[in-house]
Parts: sequence; structure tokens; C-alpha cells
Amino acid sequence: MVFKVAVCGAAGGIGQPLSLLLKLNTDITHLALYDIVNVPGVAADLGHINTPAVVTSHKGAETMGAALQDAQLVIIPAGIPRKPGMTRDDLFRINAGIIRDLALGAAKHCPNAFMLIISNPVNSTVPIVAEVFKAQGVYNPKRIFGVTTLDVVRASRFVTDIKGWVDPVAVRVPIVGGHSGPTIVPLLSQIQPTQDFTQAEIEALTQRIQYGGDEVVQAKDGAGSATLSMAHAGARFATAIIRAVVRGETGIVEPTYVALAAADPAHAEALRAEVSGLDHFAFPVELGKEGVHRIHPIGSVSEYEKKLLATAVKELAGSIQKGVDFVATKN
Ligand code: NAD
Ligand code: LMR
Repeated sequence: MVFKVAVCGAAGGIGQPLSLLLKLNTDITHLALYDIVNVPGVAADLGHINTPAVVTSHKGAETMGAALQDAQLVIIPAGIPRKPGMTRDDLFRINAGIIRDLALGAAKHCPNAFMLIISNPVNSTVPIVAEVFKAQGVYNPKRIFGVTTLDVVRASRFVTDIKGWVDPVAVRVPIVGGHSGPTIVPLLSQIQPTQDFTQAEIEALTQRIQYGGDEVVQAKDGAGSATLSMAHAGARFATAIIRAVVRGETGIVEPTYVALAAADPAHAEALRAEVSGLDHFAFPVELGKEGVHRIHPIGSVSEYEKKLLATAVKELAGSIQKGVDFVATKN
């Protein structure tokens, strides 16, 4: 089976290690690396690794079509990262246009691809992709995902740091909402395996998970944001999609930021009610051959988590609208 993956922004801080991890995935037959700079060297380097994927290099806007043509999976970490003192929303001004143009390319060259959006602000860039696909008449909400996996990866690591469990991989903290400070809502009450926390532990952990990205931005001191942990998280999510799509594995659940339109009609109303009618939200999502197989509900939460959710919903409403308005006015 042919399985082509295109990475847009492949020469960047995330793009390079992410492409390396994808090159190690033996289900991928073609890895198309696209960037506006430096990508030939990255592709030549990765192309020497003796795994099945053929690596192709695409540099410059005029090569975008060839990179995306017939891709089954498109991963987008293109755009600028934060510096200390910036919010993710501060990136909108530059990144919104980059994502819109890449979405236009994908709508034309690979309209059925699974689209994995890493570029910030994810809460707005995913609605941008959705609106572009709608305008081009190729929208399938089951195939567009905002990658929030890094929050989940961090949560299990941070819990392990204070509880001293042996294997952080086994710790699962559902994270819902979106991907920016107050919209990142860890549901520690639903942690698996179950664990008792004091309220002080819950508040400290929640704060650390919500602002984990800032820790890295501060430590890098002007040289960007998380790249290596993000590459791991992006590869984990891409691999989950590939396992569901190529291998037909079932029961794979990953939190991810999706459109409520991807919900099956029998559950859509109940899910919308949980998020006060928002069009996009990060839920635990069961993946399947078509992408979103089933959106799992938020379920029962603590009083503390209810308050976090209310704050997240308010902020997300504005971020989603910002993305929608951008496509409506700048197309
Ligand atoms: P970077 O600057 O190191 O790399 C970005 C790459 O995108 C560069 O190589 C650049 O040339 C390329 N690029 C710019 N415009 C492009 C275009 N029009 N087409 C194709 N490529 C283009 O940045 P980074 O550290 O890799 O971060 C990339 C993005 O990912 C940022 O927006 C960052 O905020 C975001 N991010 C998201 C998460 C998440 O959890 N979703 C985590 C970390 C970073
Ligand atoms: C992260 O969570 O690390 C990313 O969203 C990058 C950032 O700006 O913090």
C-alpha cells in the first residue's frame, strides 16, 4: 500500500526531528518534505536512512503542489514560534496567512488527506483550515485535527514527577478544550490509573500543564519554543492515525482539537451541550479508517474542572471566530 505523508515546514525546529521520526515509520512509503528554505539538505540527510520511505525535497511556494499531490497525511508545523513575553495568539498575524495558503494547496492537491495542524495558535489555525476546505467544497470534518498531543505527553510526565510512578507512558490524563494556557483543561479526576491528589497538587499540576509551553519558551530564551518534545508528540499522533488507517487498528483514543461537525449525529447534540455550542473543541477522539471514528464526551468532572471548562469555553469562542473571520475577509 502506498502511504504518502507531506510535512509542511519540514526544515524547521519541529519539522526536522518530526521528519526523522516519520522516516522511521515503516508504514510510510513516501515522505515529501516541503519548506520555503533549507529543505534540500534535510531531505538529502534523511534520505540516507535505510527505511522504506522515499524522501523527496520541495523548496519554495512553486513546489508546494508537488509536495502535497496525492498525500494521504499532511502535517503542518510551518510558521513562526513564540519568544518570551508572547502569547500563542500573537502568532496569528503571521501564521494565519501561512496556514490559509497551505490549506488552499491541500484542498487542491490532496483534498482527502488527513490534516494534522501543529502551527499556533491551534485554536484558530484549525478553524482556518476548516473554512478554507468549506470554501473549496472539500470539507470533511472527520479528517482535520489540531494536534494537542504535547499537552497529554507533558501531563503524564508532570504527574509522574510528583507521584514517582515508574512508567509515565502508562499514565493517561485526558485533556480537553484547546491549546493555549486557560483553554488547556486537564481532567485529573479522570486520570488512569486512578490516583488521589490533594487540591494543592491538582492546582499546581493544572498550572504546570497549562503553561508547560512557557517553561520551554523561557528556557530557550528567544530561540523558539518546544521542538523536540513536539516532534515526539506529533509523531505519536501521526502514528496513531496511521495505525487506525493503514493497519485498521481499533480502540485508539487520543485527545485532539476537532470540529463538532465530526461527531456522529446521534451524539452531536449532547457533545455540543457539553461545550456550550462551540464549533471546535479538543475531546478524547477514537480514531478509525475515516479519521474521527467517535468523539468521546467530556463526561463527569470535578467542581474545579467545571470552572476551568467555563473559562476555556469563553476564550475558545473568540479564537474560533477569529479564524473564521480571517478566511471570510482575507480570501
Ligand atoms: P521554526 O521557525 O523553527 O520552523 C518553522 C518552519 O516553517 C521554518 O523552517 C520556516 O521556513 C517554515 N515556513 C515558514 N513559512 C512557511 C510557508 N509558507 N510554507 C512552508 N514552510 C514555511 O518553528 P517551530 O519551532 O518548528 O514551530 C513551528 C510552529 O509550531 C509554531 O507556530 C509553534 O508555535 C508551533 N508549535 C505548536 C505546538 C503544538 O503543541 N501544537 C508545539 C510547539 C510548537
Ligand atoms: C507548546 O505548547 O510548547 C507550543 O504550543 C509552543 C508554545 O508556544 O508554547
